[in-house]
Amino acid sequence: MLRYAMIGGGPGAFVGQVHRRALALNGQARLVAGCFSRDLEKSRVLGAELGLDGDRVYATPEELARLEAGDIDFAVVVTSNEAHYPNVKACLRSGINVMCDKPFTHTPAQARELVDLARERRLVLGVTYTYAGYPMVRQMREMIARGDVGEIRFVNCEYPQGWLAEPVETTGHIQASWRADPERGGGTLSLGDVGSHIEYLVPHVTGLTLTRLAARLDSLVEGRVLDDNGTILTEYDTGARGLYWYSQAATGAVNGLRLRVFGDQGGLEWFQEDPDHLRYTPLNEPARIITRGAPDLLPGAMAYSHTPAGHPEGWLLAFANIYQSFCATLAMGAAVDFPTGEDGLRGVEFIEACLESSRNGTAWVEVGAMGGA
Ligand SMILES: NC(=O)c1ccc[n+]([C@@H]2O[C@H](COP(=O)([O-])OP(=O)(O)OC[C@H]3O[C@@H](n4cnc5c(N)ncnc54)[C@H](O)[C@@H]3O)[C@@H](O)[C@H]2O)c1
Repeated sequence: MLRYAMIGGGPGAFVGQVHRRALALNGQARLVAGCFSRDLEKSRVLGAELGLDGDRVYATPEELARLEAGDIDFAVVVTSNEAHYPNVKACLRSGINVMCDKPFTHTPAQARELVDLARERRLVLGVTYTYAGYPMVRQMREMIARGDVGEIRFVNCEYPQGWLAEPVETTGHIQASWRADPERGGGTLSLGDVGSHIEYLVPHVTGLTLTRLAARLDSLVEGRVLDDNGTILTEYDTGARGLYWYSQAATGAVNGLRLRVFGDQGGLEWFQEDPDHLRYTPLNEPARIITRGAPDLLPGAMAYSHTPAGHPEGWLLAFANIYQSFCATLAMGAAVDFPTGEDGLRGVEFIEACLESSRNGTAWVEVGAMGGA
């Protein structure tokens, strides 16, 4: 049983409790310490609820990193975005492995520094791009790798949400307030929040490398400073092309992440709100629905599938699957099979490239050529 500490995820926080539940589902790691909030009293209350020793609840992440080094196997950083960089850095400097949520950092330079630090100290650094943890995303990836769609011509990925269709950040909404604040959220609102998932998912599933993009970032809700919607044209190393759309101002949308891949021999489609099914249409043949839990699922998908077909799995188990791989690497030295710090860095570079393109009238930007501030 590994031992971990959590930074962020305090009372009323959204995703910290999801990480805790996912880790508990796997039974691979036990929460032993935390700095859940900037407010020590709030941290203490939550620590007591979670059954932690009072002296392992800390006032600052730096104190946690200093005093827990050697007593924990990893730290989970689930704070608002502006606190990722200093907290991951404090942990790595103390020799602690880290899993951080996305977007990894505010700038590529920060992300690069953390990746280098982890490499120097031989520490494991992961980023929770959750959707890589779905069994049917793995199925899609393995089908593409073995040639089921032939040569990929076009990729279409969209992630519309509607919870920011009104300016809720002006009403004291906890999660919206910091996300919409340029100092805390970063240079973007929705690109970092949901567009970052698209950026990770497409190359992960298709094996394509993004080479160029042209982005238009919009603020659809009046008075909003940062983007809440965006469209991005993409080109890849093979000559394949793509189109991404993300939004948090798409009224009525919930978590509509959809990935479609079109090759010269077939097409594949996966929709996050129906995650156990994958639609596969070979060229000139009727569409087939592939179901999670079916006996002939490909090995990677099978390894992430936990309940029989027809008993739905979902988002929580996708998080748990990312941790399943992360913990297997920490405990047994298993090959890295989860999104890493390098992936986090690439995500931040993508955000920079989109911002540059959008500022320059949706000009094409070479992704590899991005300097990174
Ligand atoms: N992977 C996913 O699918 C997914 C989903 C939701 C959120 N996220 C990411 O998770 C992170 C948290 O998002 P959220 O919606 O849970 O935010 P939130 O505002 O609900 O929670 C953030 C928590 O961090 C704490 N915190 C902030 N700074 C801190 C510091 N310096 N020390 C200790 N605690 C601190 C806050 O008190 C709060 O408890 C964000 O980076 C977000 O992008 C990822």
